[in-house]
Amino acid sequence: MSSHNPWRLSVAPMLDWTDRHCRFFHRLLTRQTRLYTEMVTTGALLHGDKPRHLDFNRGHEHPVALQLGGSEPADLAASAKLAEQWGYDEVNLNCGCPSERVQRGAFGACLMAEPELVADGIKAMRDAVSIPVTIKHRIGIDRIESYDFVRDFVGRIAEAGCEVFIVHARNAWLQGLSPKENREIPPLRYELVHQLKREFPRLIIVLNGGVKDDDEIEEQLRHVDGVMVGRQAYHEPWQMVDWDRRFFGQPDPADSREQVEALWLDYLSRLHAEGRAWPQAMRHALGLWNGQAGSRRWRQVWSDHKLKGLAPAEVAAIATRARSEVLEQLAEPRPLAA
Ligand SMILES: Cc1cc2nc3c(=O)[nH]c(=O)nc-3n(C[C@H](O)[C@H](O)[C@H](O)COP(=O)(O)O)c2cc1C
Repeated sequence: MSSHNPWRLSVAPMLDWTDRHCRFFHRLLTRQTRLYTEMVTTGALLHGDKPRHLDFNRGHEHPVALQLGGSEPADLAASAKLAEQWGYDEVNLNCGCPSERVQRGAFGACLMAEPELVADGIKAMRDAVSIPVTIKHRIGIDRIESYDFVRDFVGRIAEAGCEVFIVHARNAWLQGLSPKENREIPPLRYELVHQLKREFPRLIIVLNGGVKDDDEIEEQLRHVDGVMVGRQAYHEPWQMVDWDRRFFGQPDPADSREQVEALWLDYLSRLHAEGRAWPQAMRHALGLWNGQAGSRRWRQVWSDHKLKGLAPAEVAAIATRARSEVLEQLAEPRPLAA
């Protein structure tokens, strides 16, 4: 195990993306990075199909955190208990999601306007479980631009016993922007997150939003305790293969994309043998060969609807052949122009 704090590097919770298949894939690339589930609402958890929302690949995914959406302290406490019973390493409360559906449920980013309610929720969860209870939030909502707003929020939640704050370094505009626009349009203001760390040196402050390459991660780690990466990790997964060595001083988990692909293929084949649809899982791995010759052809084969009835090993053979053909074409000497 690494001696670094457990939040040094993480992959963000992303609805519809970071499901258990995605997390299995990411674990082939990094063993140390903390992984987060998609947000699960307390309603879905308490009244719905618990195994569907909570099951994960136990021997493989740790450290893994469950992210909750909700605001009722009793529901949050009951959900946190389920997370602990199921074996999660952490439960995280979402106070950053701006979607209208979430606002109608009165949770997500609009909770930043109700620090007392959030504090009650955090306290109720902490009383219910012994795993860490953490929070993910924005630096502000709507046009509130002042540092004091986020400082007071963090201060109040820290009083309720929360020690880990994952801060998406932009405001959430609750009206007029889609969730996607809310991840792009409000400006990033990293300096506010750095200021939080200076003001609350004993808290673990994790910076999130717009971080792309490893040098940027390293630069941010000079100011904060941890960095959470979302879209970049999802779209360019191979970037993660250096993270264990570079950021945790641990050996790289894989030497080559071929090695990762072979292990991933075993996983897809197991799903297929159990009669489960492998394309649901494969969509998360389509970026594996990005940046390499033939990657587009490889991705096209794996996303071809006509091949979805085949066994993964058969599709893999076609995809590898397609990629090799591109490599061969590139290697062929071109005829000299007359
Ligand atoms: C498809 C998608 C789904 C997301 N779902 C969630 C979610 O369920 N919970 C959450 O806290 N944030 C969610 N986010 C926001 C990310 O966790 C993260 O805060 C945001 O993408 C900024 O980080 P990045 O620039 O590194 O991607 C989502 C982002 C994306 C792209």
